[in-house]
Amino acid sequence: MAYENDYEDEGAPELDLEMLREDMIGELQAINQYQEHIDTIEDEEVAEVLAHIRDEEKEHLVELTKLIRKLDPLQAEMFKKEGL
Ligand SMILES: [Fe+2]
Repeated sequence: MAYENDYEDEGAPELDLEMLREDMIGELQAINQYQEHIDTIEDEEVAEVLAHIRDEEKEHLVELTKLIRKLDPLQAEMFKKEGL
């Protein structure tokens, strides 16, 4: 994706937020892909390593969420409202 053109007229915070949201999509897709492979792979040791990696991706998702909360006050308020 060409960020320099897509976000030319937007302020830095919105650009940062859009990139962080795209990073979140990547983490969610990674979690799903690892889970799919864990469910398919027959070697138990390999499946355990993939499960560990999947869990790290979940941690990354939390880290990205924290950054979005920091940069997006409205989103932060909505999380707060839901007790998150
Ligand atoms: Fe990740």
